[in-house]
Amino acid sequence: MKVLSVLGSTGSIGTNTLKLVKEFPDDFRVEGLAAGHNAALLAEQVEAVRPRIVSSGDEKVSAEVQGLLRQRGYDMAATRFTHGVEGNVEVACHPGCEMVLSAISGGAGLLPTYRALESGKGIALANKETMVMAGELMMRKSLEKNLPILPVDSEHNAIHQCLRGGEGKEVRRLILTASGGPFRTTPKEKFSEITLADALKHPTWNMGRKITIDSATLMNKGLEVIEAARLFGVGAERISVVVHPQSVVHSMVEYVDGSMLAQLGVTDMRLPIQYALTWPERWTTPLERLDIYKLPSLEFFEPDMDKFPCLGLAYEALRAGGTAPAVLNAANEVAVEAFLGERLAFTDIPRIIRAVLRAHTPRPADELETVLEADAWAREAARGM
Ligand SMILES: NC(=O)c1ccc[n+]([C@@H]2O[C@H](COP(=O)([O-])OP(=O)(O)OC[C@H]3O[C@@H](n4cnc5c(N)ncnc54)[C@H](OP(=O)(O)O)[C@@H]3O)[C@@H](O)[C@H]2O)c1
Repeated sequence: MKVLSVLGSTGSIGTNTLKLVKEFPDDFRVEGLAAGHNAALLAEQVEAVRPRIVSSGDEKVSAEVQGLLRQRGYDMAATRFTHGVEGNVEVACHPGCEMVLSAISGGAGLLPTYRALESGKGIALANKETMVMAGELMMRKSLEKNLPILPVDSEHNAIHQCLRGGEGKEVRRLILTASGGPFRTTPKEKFSEITLADALKHPTWNMGRKITIDSATLMNKGLEVIEAARLFGVGAERISVVVHPQSVVHSMVEYVDGSMLAQLGVTDMRLPIQYALTWPERWTTPLERLDIYKLPSLEFFEPDMDKFPCLGLAYEALRAGGTAPAVLNAANEVAVEAFLGERLAFTDIPRIIRAVLRAHTPRPADELETVLEADAWAREAARGM
């Protein structure tokens, strides 16, 4: 029986995780849940899972969750209720839990994920922002504690699987696939007309709002390039991106002899979640399988860096190193939030990120405090713009 805490339980990855865990009642138990502001769904989850500890975004949401549970006759003594940043950390570090599924969206995921690793939990990592902001620190801690960071992001999960096919020194490059997002075939001249509704229509994946916008700008792929560099210890020059609109091949590894290993699968995040939670074993899937006879033709294109400048900015931040990726991430979060609030045009997202990144002098990202300071500085700078 593996005991889990799920951070971001009410989100797209969180709900998929709880659905998956339900399929294996004898193998997983969920002892901790942390979420933001969706009180109704969190109360439902608490009732279904009966965790020992639950954290909500703030005190008001926590009171709402408790009120809903009391109305339903829930045994309140079974669960401790907490909230906010400390609440996330408490859930992540709960003594009973062995593994943390980290799926809060954005930079808020870093602190609980880092603290979980520090306190001896294995990490199933969906929150890519953690690796973008503090990947070097996370990998150092993972080595020191001898604990795995298992990628849930489908591309990194695919690479993790493909790397089982050879030795590290035999790897030539990692190839991340990208669907290309909703604007793959939209001419650049039309980008100024893109609306929020257009950008929220992802062609192949159903995800949270922030990552959906990141997929439309290709910043999601940029963040994934940085995440891959940190997770697999490979430089920017050995990570390529290929646009693959069908999202059947989740990523590939090219070996020195020219062989390419690819992982293919259904577009259902429960597949990489299951791999991360059951690694180093593989368990029989309760999901629908890929029907090889019904696959569409698979296409692969070079990304258009001119149309999607966010991808180039992410490579730039990775090459600059230190705190630059944390700054890129923070500026992107602020810009995307403004776009989601319809206060910013789609084409202003890369403009703001570029300006903040160029105004920053990177420092070594070897302390959590330095990373958090750079993050706060970049948010302030981006908001000012
Ligand atoms: N969705 C995917 O297919 C996918 C694939 C690969 C990687 N990822 C990564 O996984 C992470 C989650 O993505 P998602 O699509 O699941 O996002 P999402 O649907 O927006 O869910 C985000 C979750 O985080 C919670 N949350 C947000 N801020 C919080 C805070 N300060 N404290 C506690 N909880 C907070 C939300 O709570 P409320 O909703 O209750 O406010 C929700 O439970 C992201 O880092 C994303 O890049 C997602």
